[in-house]
Amino acid sequence: MIDQFGRSIRYMRISVTDRCNLRCQYCMPTDVAAVCHEEVLRYEEIERICAAAVRLGIVRFKITGGEPLVRKGCAGLIGHIKAIPGVEQVTLTTNGVLLGAQLDALCEAGLDAVNISLDTLDDELCARITGSRAITPAQILALLEACCAKGLRTKLNAVLLEETLPEAVSLAEISQRLPVDVRFIELMPVGFGSSMKRVAPDLVLERLQARWPDLHPTDEIRGNGPAHYFAAEGLQGRIGFIDAVSHKFCASCNRVRLTSTGLLKPCLCFDSGTDLRALLRGGCTDEQLTEALRAAVYVKPRAHRFDEQAEITERRLMSQIGG
Ligand code: GTP
Ligand code: 5AD
Ligand code: SF4
Repeated sequence: MIDQFGRSIRYMRISVTDRCNLRCQYCMPTDVAAVCHEEVLRYEEIERICAAAVRLGIVRFKITGGEPLVRKGCAGLIGHIKAIPGVEQVTLTTNGVLLGAQLDALCEAGLDAVNISLDTLDDELCARITGSRAITPAQILALLEACCAKGLRTKLNAVLLEETLPEAVSLAEISQRLPVDVRFIELMPVGFGSSMKRVAPDLVLERLQARWPDLHPTDEIRGNGPAHYFAAEGLQGRIGFIDAVSHKFCASCNRVRLTSTGLLKPCLCFDSGTDLRALLRGGCTDEQLTEALRAAVYVKPRAHRFDEQAEITERRLMSQIGG
């Protein structure tokens, strides 16, 4: 559907849980009170929202968390969403801890692509950033290989931090060995990210261009996201940048977000949203649900205000939004 600023909205990010098995510095560094089970949307409720979204032309879905795979039955949900007539794509963003055990089930459910997080190749730094030893860089590399072997489109997400900047080339080299897109994500001032030092993605680009002098922008479509990509001879995958702060991409934004508690959030930056759970549990019809969704998507704000701390009204953590 088309929003008030003429943008075509075709993609919904669905956070299935705010819980996580890691404690990343920029996301959920300490234990945070988890939403209680009754407040979290049931899978049938999520599926109803997806069916309503499809009626509006929102046909691509990203499953996020917290960590989505900590919620039991995630592969089943993906299979059910895939089975809704009109759905084009269901993809997953995960920290990888539980991916190995669930990979077969996810592929059987019809998962179309996976994004896996890895910020550093150094074991100790990884433990410090993720606040955990639940997964090592070597295990993530093995997972990337396993996903590629399954024919799953696979990307790596590396949030850019001061300590990891020296590793930019080593991380990018993963796309030389494997057909994986390596994406550098600029830290966003949401939740704990607002109190951490942001590194300009251009600093990474300079280092990568020194390593691959023919690295050049490509306008290939590599997913649904805001990432822009670079290619070079000898790289099987692409190098991507998601630089929401330094290069605002809101004019072409195509997405809305659903939190695990059923809040339909039109923009990452602001607190506003529509409580779809209240509607569902109040006994709304499918038509009423679709109309509420239409109204919520239509008023999507023109752009974020990450450049102006006082304008950022979102108080939720990234783990409660799903990135
Ligand atoms: P695909 O490329 O289709 O897989 O999608 P994606 O890049 O949107 O997915 P992913 O879940 O891997 O998100 C990567 C990063 O992009 C995360 O840090 C998200 O928070 C961020 N991101 C995704 N969508 C938006 C957006 O609309 N605005 C902003 N500012 N950041 C976003
Ligand atoms: N800024 C940018 N990216 C973030 N993520 C979590 N918190 C932030 C933040 N403050 C990323 C994760 C994961 C994706 C879902 O969001 O690392 O790749
Ligand atoms: Fe968990 Fe992902 Fe947040 Fe890290 S970034 S704490 S893995 S939800």
